[in-house]
Amino acid sequence: MIHSKIIGTGSYLPKKILTNHDLELMVDTTDDWIRSRTGIVQRHIAADGEMASDMALNASREAMDASGIKAGEIDLIIVATTTPDMIFPSTACILQNKLGIKGSAAFDMQAVCSGFIYALTTADMFIRSGKYRTALVVGTEIYSRLLDWNDRSTCVLFGDGAGAVLMTQSNQPGILSSHLRADGSQHKVLSATGSSCGGKVQGNPFLTMEGSVVFKFAVKVLTEIAHETVIGSNLQMSDIDWLIPHQANIRIIQSTAKKLDIPMEKVITTVDKHGNTSAASIPLALDIAVRDGRIKQDQHILLESVGAGFTWGATLVRW
Ligand code: UT7
Repeated sequence: MIHSKIIGTGSYLPKKILTNHDLELMVDTTDDWIRSRTGIVQRHIAADGEMASDMALNASREAMDASGIKAGEIDLIIVATTTPDMIFPSTACILQNKLGIKGSAAFDMQAVCSGFIYALTTADMFIRSGKYRTALVVGTEIYSRLLDWNDRSTCVLFGDGAGAVLMTQSNQPGILSSHLRADGSQHKVLSATGSSCGGKVQGNPFLTMEGSVVFKFAVKVLTEIAHETVIGSNLQMSDIDWLIPHQANIRIIQSTAKKLDIPMEKVITTVDKHGNTSAASIPLALDIAVRDGRIKQDQHILLESVGAGFTWGATLVRW
């Protein structure tokens, strides 16, 4: 039986750091409000002209180095992003070109903050079916360009960055189980409605959000999907060595962990340093925990996310 396994991780953060104190000079907010309501202390901001594909390339190169896989061996590229370089072609095709390869399948995945879980699950399916052998899965986001920097209720929450994993066929299971869900009836709660029409932007090009609605929904579905995924794999929550949740708000992360009876010592958090990097947040956190040695062979890792749509999902990994 063919399984898929993650064999290398990588990440990239733009050089510029925007602290809460910097934001105090831009909008009517305080470091104390942002820290206490979100856990965020700072976030990274892409440079002018730096594109999602540039950040994806840097993260991908790290994942390739970590796995020993050469660009020419990659036969599937999936890029999860809500902030593509352009309307089309896909950021995945632009990344493929920057990697100097041709011929692999390449497409973008649009599931907002759940994009990486959706992309990882899709790559797992392709690899397990035998269709592709080696997949590059990337989350890359430049939310700083979607934010209204006069809106204190949203501009303090997000940051830019990218994370990547390389996956390949394996005799031993790496991805144990994945579950994806969506509820489109709630698409207006968190959205950026702008689109291009006849040379003009129609709708609102900035992100808008009913924060407390997202908060309550997130804790509910993240708890449910974690149970579904772990119990469905005949494991107990106590078998989980590391929980890597989407990094939107430390209070969402703490509430979910509490409901799951997972101690915070087993939860990887980066929201303080990165803010919410949407589809990039999980692969960024994963890469950091792999590189600092917390994640070790044979451990069970639960990745889970929720985002606009709503979309949500979880993936259980044996490392
Ligand atoms: O990736 C998935 C998408 N996003 C999320 O998961 C985010 C989910 N939601 C949240 O993280 C939280 O709901 C927020 C951090 C967005 C807001 O926290 P909250 O505890 O739900 O606060 P709130 O929306 O109830 O607002 C409380 C107050 C309001 O003032 P009044 O009406 O009580 O006077 C806001 O105007 O805080 C005010 N406020 C701020 N004050 C200082 C909102 N933003 C700020 C700010 N600085 N930046």
